[in-house]
Amino acid sequence: MKTYRIASIPGDGIGKEVVPEGEKVLQALAAKNQDIQFEFQHFDWGGDYYRAHGVMMPADGLDPLRKVDAILFGSAGDPNIPDHITLWGLRLKICQGFDQYANVRPTRILPGIQTPLKNCTRDQLDWVIVRENSEGEYAGLGGRAHQGHPIEVASDMSILTRVGVERIQRYAFRLAQSRPRKHLTVITKSNAQRHGMVMWDEIAVQIAKEFPDVTWDKELVDAATARMVNRPESLDTVVATNLHADVLSDLAAALAGSLGIAPTGNIDPERRYPSMFEPIHGSAFDIMGKGLANPIGTFWSIVMMLEHLQEPTLAKLLMQVIEQVTANPSLHTRDLGGKAMMTEVTQAVCAGIERS
Ligand code: IPM
Ligand code: MG
Repeated sequence: MKTYRIASIPGDGIGKEVVPEGEKVLQALAAKNQDIQFEFQHFDWGGDYYRAHGVMMPADGLDPLRKVDAILFGSAGDPNIPDHITLWGLRLKICQGFDQYANVRPTRILPGIQTPLKNCTRDQLDWVIVRENSEGEYAGLGGRAHQGHPIEVASDMSILTRVGVERIQRYAFRLAQSRPRKHLTVITKSNAQRHGMVMWDEIAVQIAKEFPDVTWDKELVDAATARMVNRPESLDTVVATNLHADVLSDLAAALAGSLGIAPTGNIDPERRYPSMFEPIHGSAFDIMGKGLANPIGTFWSIVMMLEHLQEPTLAKLLMQVIEQVTANPSLHTRDLGGKAMMTEVTQAVCAGIERS
């Protein structure tokens, strides 16, 4: 019997609703496969923890997480706490503390889901965006001076290191190599950002030589948005800096039908630390506590978690069941134009696992 220790961090807003649903799905998989079990450790970090303790998570909070096999995360964000505090105090603390430098965001149009793109068939949109997750525009460097005075100044500095760029581009080329199309698009903005992005471009040329079987091209980030809409089939694997990929991945999720479906993995490819999996939708206070959240983003993130845990059979099974469920419009939540409640979707997925 193999036991996977999973840290469960629901965080805030609808994160508190969808993460328990994710646990149910993992338990359903374990019930189906007697060789595997999941042991959950729960952490009540987030906005409420901040109100009680003045911090989003304890200073030594990474210590208990070090021992787990993977982290299932909900979302961080609270209408009464500044966003930069909720982000830096929890999610980024884990991502950066565990050097989860590859943020991986697959995008596909699942069966039964409508894309807002005209004339785009399901097979024409199949992307994985690889987001640099440890530095760039999110390096946290910068500062403020003369606060409150007319001469106030503020700066955010983007930092790209050779090591950081080489490792994320190598990861992206390798991922592209593992996919049927073997094609990578390197997103840049070296026309305007004339230092870091120029080095980024140079490093792409260098890393590409290690992958002679991968074709690649370069696209400016602004042009990439138009290309995603006009020629989705021309893209496959995409690599971009932290902020560029943040923007592109929201567009990708919307083009695939809903932000409620999109998954993500914050991955330490070297497996020195646990990796963290989360839906990308955020805390969504407007629908919180109503049972309306779409749990599919969490379930797809669990597929990524299972792949990372090297359980490809379970991952494949769960993805198949997810696709059977999205194919049925009566199981669509409100974000997809449907009327289904979150728990109905979970029940359908668990029943599908049981039947498989
Ligand atoms: C994401 C989110 C976060 C980010 C927010 C919540 C700060 O948009 O995961 O893409 O910008 O990284
Ligand atoms: Mg984002």
